[in-house]
Amino acid sequence: MDLDKLEADCRAVLTANDRGDHTVPAGDLYPHQWLWDSCFTAIGLRHMDIERAKQEVCSLFEGQWSNGMLPHIVFNKHHTDAAERRVWSSHLSPYSPDHRTTSGITQPPVVAEAVVRIGKMLPLTERRTWYKHVWENVLAYHLWLYKDRDPHHEGLVLQIHPYETGLDSTPPWMAQLHEHNHPWWISIIETLKLENAFNFIRRDTRRMPIVTRMSNIDALLYWDVINRLRRKHYEIERILHRSLFVIEDLTFNSIFIRANTQLQHIAQAIGAEIPEELHTAILNSRRALEKLWDEDTHSYYSRDFVTHKLLPEQSIAALMPLYAGTVSKERAAELVGQLTDKHRFWPEFPVPSVPLDSPDFNSLRYWEGPSWVNTNWLLIDGLRRYGFIDEADDLALKTVTMVAQAGCYEYFSPLDGQGLGAPDFSWTAALTLDLLKSKD
Ligand code: GLC
Repeated sequence: MDLDKLEADCRAVLTANDRGDHTVPAGDLYPHQWLWDSCFTAIGLRHMDIERAKQEVCSLFEGQWSNGMLPHIVFNKHHTDAAERRVWSSHLSPYSPDHRTTSGITQPPVVAEAVVRIGKMLPLTERRTWYKHVWENVLAYHLWLYKDRDPHHEGLVLQIHPYETGLDSTPPWMAQLHEHNHPWWISIIETLKLENAFNFIRRDTRRMPIVTRMSNIDALLYWDVINRLRRKHYEIERILHRSLFVIEDLTFNSIFIRANTQLQHIAQAIGAEIPEELHTAILNSRRALEKLWDEDTHSYYSRDFVTHKLLPEQSIAALMPLYAGTVSKERAAELVGQLTDKHRFWPEFPVPSVPLDSPDFNSLRYWEGPSWVNTNWLLIDGLRRYGFIDEADDLALKTVTMVAQAGCYEYFSPLDGQGLGAPDFSWTAALTLDLLKSKD
């Protein structure tokens, strides 16, 4: 494997996708700024240009709502395509910023992780200056997550759209969507088999085969959920009133638990106070994660917010408590056993977003089977912190090899490593660079 070439390719992708103060996920497929994408990108950019990495994170705060929410998309000021902005119409919420248009939902909270990773590259005084600079924004976001998204103080935060999980078409969410949110007009389109008519309005299926993306029916269902949220002006009380489906997502909550640990680290470094209620909520979350464990199947699952039923569909989320870092060493060892089972999560190019033995597994389609570099990176980090160094090194090597062979694609077939989705994808480049360069 030519590591110098791989590093040069990763740097070239990040440079090509750089829009000055932020990086787009992929040239023309994703022309705006996405929340967790920019956090992952910043983690790679710190090896190229630390000031630019800081700016990547700070530009996210320009889209921050006055209630603390970080939106999952901040629309590019110079991009002419107005249709997507209209779908979201963020101005309908009194909390949205005046001078930026954004979406009305969030994405997994990786921002504290990005802040700390940048901090680790800085000498002590500069690190503290950096932490102080972003402290209020990151704190406001975590406070918002508990206030808006944990209304019953259960310790688990809820999500209101599959996009909030970042794993857009993951099976547990798709199952809920089909069960609870199937409007009559979509049923008619389905019955009359008219869905192909929608190919032309989708940016993704004009560029890549639909077998690698979500179906048109699923895309319409997503769009319908956005319309409902917009009509309620993204106000959580209104959304929860007669809501169709709301989920405490396992990936989101695992990432949030880790983010809280990083937030505490930042606070300690600058002598800032974590408000008492936040401190209590953080401890509550660590305990609450155990409520997502099912003793019969020996697995963690996402949970229905209203019924508290665990959602049985299998996905990579089951491994994410390794990244949360708060489960016991024994439990972590059990998850590592599942991860390295070649009939489940350990094919030639791991880690599949759905295990191979699940009826939902599809090696080509989006979050229904393909391997993604960002979820691999989260698992590698979790493995290292639990002391599973050989497994972490092995997964890092397999990840880097997959990208070196196929290129910086959005996702990869776990069976043969073929690159799928968008080429020249920013987080693939950034996190591969991080795996090549980083000691932590
Ligand atoms: C896709 C991914 C999501 C990502 C976005 C931009 O929608 O599922 O996680 O943030 O693309 O790259």
